[in-house]
Amino acid sequence: MGNPVRVALASARKECCILVMSTSFDLAALRRLDAAHHLHPFTDHAALHKAGTHVIRSAKGCTLVDETGRELLDGLAGLWCTNIGYGREEILNAVADQMRQVAFYPSFFNTTTEPTIRLAARLAELVPRELGHVIFANSGSEANETALKLVRAYWKLRGKPEKRTVLSRNYAYHGVGLATTSLTGLPSCLEPFDLPLPGFLHVPGPLAYGTGKSPVDYGKWCIEETERTIAREGAHTIGAMFVEPVQGAGGVIVPPAGYLTQLRELCRRNEILFVADEVITGFGRLGAWFASELWSLAPDLMTVAKGITSGYVPLGATFVRDEISEALSKGGYLAHGFTYTGHPVACAAALANLEVLTREKLVERVRDDVGPRFQAALAKVASHPAVAEVRGFGLIGAFEMKKPLKGPLASAGPNALGPAIHLLAREEGVIVRGIRDLGAMSPPFVVTHSELDRMFALVTRALDRMWAGEVAKS
Ligand SMILES: Cc1ncc(COP(=O)(O)O)c(C=O)c1O
Repeated sequence: MGNPVRVALASARKECCILVMSTSFDLAALRRLDAAHHLHPFTDHAALHKAGTHVIRSAKGCTLVDETGRELLDGLAGLWCTNIGYGREEILNAVADQMRQVAFYPSFFNTTTEPTIRLAARLAELVPRELGHVIFANSGSEANETALKLVRAYWKLRGKPEKRTVLSRNYAYHGVGLATTSLTGLPSCLEPFDLPLPGFLHVPGPLAYGTGKSPVDYGKWCIEETERTIAREGAHTIGAMFVEPVQGAGGVIVPPAGYLTQLRELCRRNEILFVADEVITGFGRLGAWFASELWSLAPDLMTVAKGITSGYVPLGATFVRDEISEALSKGGYLAHGFTYTGHPVACAAALANLEVLTREKLVERVRDDVGPRFQAALAKVASHPAVAEVRGFGLIGAFEMKKPLKGPLASAGPNALGPAIHLLAREEGVIVRGIRDLGAMSPPFVVTHSELDRMFALVTRALDRMWAGEVAKS
């Protein structure tokens, strides 16, 4: 008899080889392999494997096909990013052409590739005028990590190395590195890792829901609190403040009137660099190329990812104000950058994506057509008995839910309704994200009127079921 562990391993390996080689889709085998070898991001693994991993098999436009062959409307654009929809030949061709030409070469040491230069130049035409220089990364986290380092380098070059403390807000989401998790203002991201690191301070984010105050009054109080924090710490110790113009993963928090202008002014007065994290809002989700334009933020730095390639290939970017790029350029060797900074394939994908957005006027479509239709449908959801509040802007929105009076959710603790509505909506045929006790939506910009209407009809059915005390079967 052989060693049972060896036998099990050999059989798992054999199964793996068969799967890799075979073109047939064996869901049970895939789920076993996934459970055996794959740690998923942001996942409760015990719960996941009990239910069985979902495996998306294909996608076109706004429609996903799942492991059972069932079609699902993607109400979240992947993860707030597949803005031009799935299956676009323009991107596939650009990526294939670039791979044939030169699949990879770095941008280190004064070398680079053509699409990297062309993308930097194209972006300079699109972003706020003063942000004329860009450094690339591979994700939103890396773009923010880069911004943090550039802020430190800048103040050091300016002779103010003590300006090291960084401000961000409760409910902020800025990424998952040690430093970018420290910027993130969500206890679920911080506590398991004993973060934030020293030097990262959180001030209140403008989520008025549940405070008993109006959004404008609560926003004013947030500004006063931020001012008090700056005074307590000393502005001479604070280098930057990171701000998502609309907070996304923290629960779609739309800034109340006047809040962002006051926050921007507060940073300017105290010589604190203002970093706009436009990883979700950049490239059209709010109906403008950048939220910084909408609220005249004139940021000192701006970070993007997601929508820059519509999620087809990983890419992030950090833009810096001319004064900062000048200081950095004169400051000697800039010892920062990832192997794949300015990856030619990712840059080719981004150029093709920007071309689609421009040619098909998709940003204008969000502003004038599908954005208003989406917000009108969201406003109707507000009158559902299970809904306490809706929030949204452009093509992003959320509905806060109330607990049903009967069924297992009636006695569930806080933060149970988001995951519950995600599962119920999925059973109905639409993907929404569950966060705490809310459902969040951000469909692709190419969503049609009938798809939008269907998305909201399915969400309403899911809300009806939750309100009746039902939970999902899966
Ligand atoms: C506003 C914001 N910043 C940063 C990030 C981190 O981006 P990534 O997941 O690409 O590292 C995200 C991701 O959702 C985000 O929403």
